[in-house]
Amino acid sequence: MERTFVLAKPDAVQRGLIGEIIKRLEQRGLKLVAAKFLQVSTDLAEQHYAIHKGKPFYEGLIRYICSAPVMAMVWEGPQAVTAVRQTMGATRPTEAAPGTIRHDFGLEVGRNLTHASDSPENAQAEISLWFKPEEMVDWKQSN
Ligand code: CMP
Repeated sequence: MERTFVLAKPDAVQRGLIGEIIKRLEQRGLKLVAAKFLQVSTDLAEQHYAIHKGKPFYEGLIRYICSAPVMAMVWEGPQAVTAVRQTMGATRPTEAAPGTIRHDFGLEVGRNLTHASDSPENAQAEISLWFKPEEMVDWKQSN
């Protein structure tokens, strides 16, 4: 089973869309194994988005992710990284397919509601950055 890291970003929290995001991932059949609601520090934001340092949108991205609370989550399932990214849609909401979260609720790339790991390797790294091993909950879904 694969795990992936998901953030409901400040725009999703401010617009009351945490439940919608969780609902769609649950409907897909994915299993929530960790969650926390927090105000992101600049230090955590810079570590999470280190790969984007130097890009023109970096400073704004850091300000945005720290601008209101986020819901950080770990979801588990077969090919969870791919499955979650399908449910989120393309990074740019105007390029996201109808029926995806980013298409259905967004227009701007800088307010694209969610972050989801783009590879199993990055998922591991992001889960370790945001969660302690003891914060993962081991449980069984019913069929
Ligand atoms: P995310 O999946 O969190 O990964 C990096 C984020 O940077 C991305 O979603 C967008 O929110 C943001 N981003 C990417 N490209 C741009 C851009 N051109 N302008 C503003 N923000 C961007």
